[in-house]
Amino acid sequence: GMYNTFTMRSHFTQILYMFPHSTVVNNNGVSPAQSQLFDGKSGYWNPRTYSHAGLFPHRKLATFNRERIPERVVHAKGGGAHGEFVVTNDISRFTKAKLFNGVGKKTRCFARFSTVGGNLGSADTAVDPHGFAVKFYTEDGNYDLVGNNIEVFPIRDPMLFSDLNRSRKRNPSTNLQDQTMWWDFVQGRPESTFHALQIFSDIGRAHGFRRMNGSSVHAFKFVNSRGDIVFAKLQWRSQQQAPALTFQQANTLQGTNPDYFVQDLYDSIENRNYPSWLLYIQLMTVEQAQSYPRNPFDITRNWREEEFQLIELGRMTLNRNPTNYFAEVEQAAFAVSNLVPGIEPSPDRMMHGRLLAYQDAQRYRLGTNFPQLPINSPIVEVNSYIRDGKACYGDNGGGSPNYWPNSFGGHQADPGVAHVSFSVSGVVDRFDIPEDEFVETRWFLERDVTPAGRQRMLEAIADHLKNARPEVQARVLQNNFYPISREFGDAVSAELQKAIRNANKSYKK
Ligand code: HEM
Repeated sequence: GMYNTFTMRSHFTQILYMFPHSTVVNNNGVSPAQSQLFDGKSGYWNPRTYSHAGLFPHRKLATFNRERIPERVVHAKGGGAHGEFVVTNDISRFTKAKLFNGVGKKTRCFARFSTVGGNLGSADTAVDPHGFAVKFYTEDGNYDLVGNNIEVFPIRDPMLFSDLNRSRKRNPSTNLQDQTMWWDFVQGRPESTFHALQIFSDIGRAHGFRRMNGSSVHAFKFVNSRGDIVFAKLQWRSQQQAPALTFQQANTLQGTNPDYFVQDLYDSIENRNYPSWLLYIQLMTVEQAQSYPRNPFDITRNWREEEFQLIELGRMTLNRNPTNYFAEVEQAAFAVSNLVPGIEPSPDRMMHGRLLAYQDAQRYRLGTNFPQLPINSPIVEVNSYIRDGKACYGDNGGGSPNYWPNSFGGHQADPGVAHVSFSVSGVVDRFDIPEDEFVETRWFLERDVTPAGRQRMLEAIADHLKNARPEVQARVLQNNFYPISREFGDAVSAELQKAIRNANKSYKK
C-alpha cells in the first residue's frame, strides 16, 4: 500500500513538472491577459475557463489519439450554418406539416453544404454535385430535407449508389483521382447523362454555397389534414445573384483556396450579410402521376417548371455560424427518414434506399446514440422504446416501461401520425425502366441553356473528359452524347479534340 502510493505520487509530480502547461486550472482560471488576447470574436477564441481533462494527463493524450472519427462516406467536405425558416405562403391545403402552415410561422434550422466525392480536406470547387441539406427543428420533431444543387440524379437504382460513388473517388490501385473511372461508369449508365450535363453547366459551377440553388430531387407525398395526397418536389432558389464560376476559375481555386465556398459562407455571415433562399414546391396530383408518360418518380428526370409551376412557400435565412465545427457540422446527422406528419415517402425506390442508408451510416460514423447529440436532438421531447447503447445520454427513459405493449401507462403510438395508405398494382421485381432516356436532357439543352452557356458547358466537359482513356472517351460519345442528337455528339467530339490538342501542346512546351 504505502510503497504504491509513494511511487504513484512522485510519478505524478514528475509528469506535472514535465508538462507545466497541463496544470489543473479552476473555473476562474482564465487570466485577464488571456481574455484580452482571445477576445471572444467569433472565429477566433472565446474566453473559456477550462479544467484539466482528468487528473491523469494520460486522458488528454489518449483522447487526442482518438480525435478522428470516420468522415462521411460521401459528402465528407462541407460547411454549415444556423438559421431560420419563415413561411411566406400558407400551403396547409396540401400538407398538414406544421412548419409549412401559417404565414409568418418561424422554424429554427441548420443547413450544411458539401461536395460529394472528395475527402474531408478536398476542394469545394471540384467537378461534383454539391449537397444542400437542411434540418428543421419543428414542433413535431426534426424534418430533414437532404437535397443537392442538381435537380436530377445519375442513377435510378439505389443498388448502384456505391458503384457511382466509387467511380468518383480514388483509383484503388494508385490511390490517385482517376477521371477514367467516373466517365466509365457514366458510359455504362446512359441515364446519368442529364446529371453530368448539369454538373458541367453554369448550374454546377455556382459561385459558392451561397449562390447555389437546391432541390429535393425526389417527390414526397404531401398529406393534408383531410388525408388528401399530392406529390411534391421542393426547390430552393438562392437570393444571392452572381455569375457562375468559369471552369478555369474553379480549377484554379482547387489549388489556391480549396475551402473557398466554406470560407465565403462563413465570412458573409460574420459580416452580417446573411444569405437567404426562397423555398418553392412543384405539385403533381395522383391522377397526373398515373397518366404521366414516363415514371414521375424516376430521379434521373426532372419535372418541367412550365408544366409543374413553382409555388412559393417560405424563406430560409442563415444568420449564425457554428461556434464549434466538430460539434455542430461534423456531428450533424441528416436523414431522409426524418419526416414529420404531413410529409411522407413517395413510391420512389431511390428514396426507399435512402430511408435506410443515412442513419445506418451515422450509427457507424457517430455511434448508436447520435440522435441525442445536441445538433441532432429535436426541440421537443421524444418518447420511444429505444434504450441503452454506447454513450447513452440523459435519463434513458427513466423508470418508464421499456417494452411495448404494456399495462403500466407506457407511451402509446399516436394514430394521428400514421401514414396514409394508397393502392398499387403491378409486378414487383427488380427491373430497369425502358423509357426514352434523353427526353428531359434534350429539353434542358433546347430550352434552358443559352448558346454562350452551351459553349461553356462543352469546354468544361472537354477539359474533364480529356483526362479519361481514349476508349472510354469513345464510349461516352457513343452512349451518352450522340444519342441526345447527332449535332450535340459532334459538338462534344470537336471540343474534346481541341482540348486534347491544346493539352499536348502545353505538355510539349
Ligand atoms: C450523404 C447515401 C442519394 C444527398 C449521404 C450519406 C450516405 C448517403 C450514406 C452519408 C450520411 C452521413 O454519414 O451522415 C445515399 C444513398 C443514396 C443517396 C444510398 C441513393 C440510393 C442521394 C440523393 C441526394 C443525396 C438523391 C440528393 C437529393 C446527400 C447529401 C448528403 C448525403 C446532401 C450530405 C448530408 C450532410 O450534409 O451531412 N448519402 N445517398 N443523396 N447525401 Fe446521399
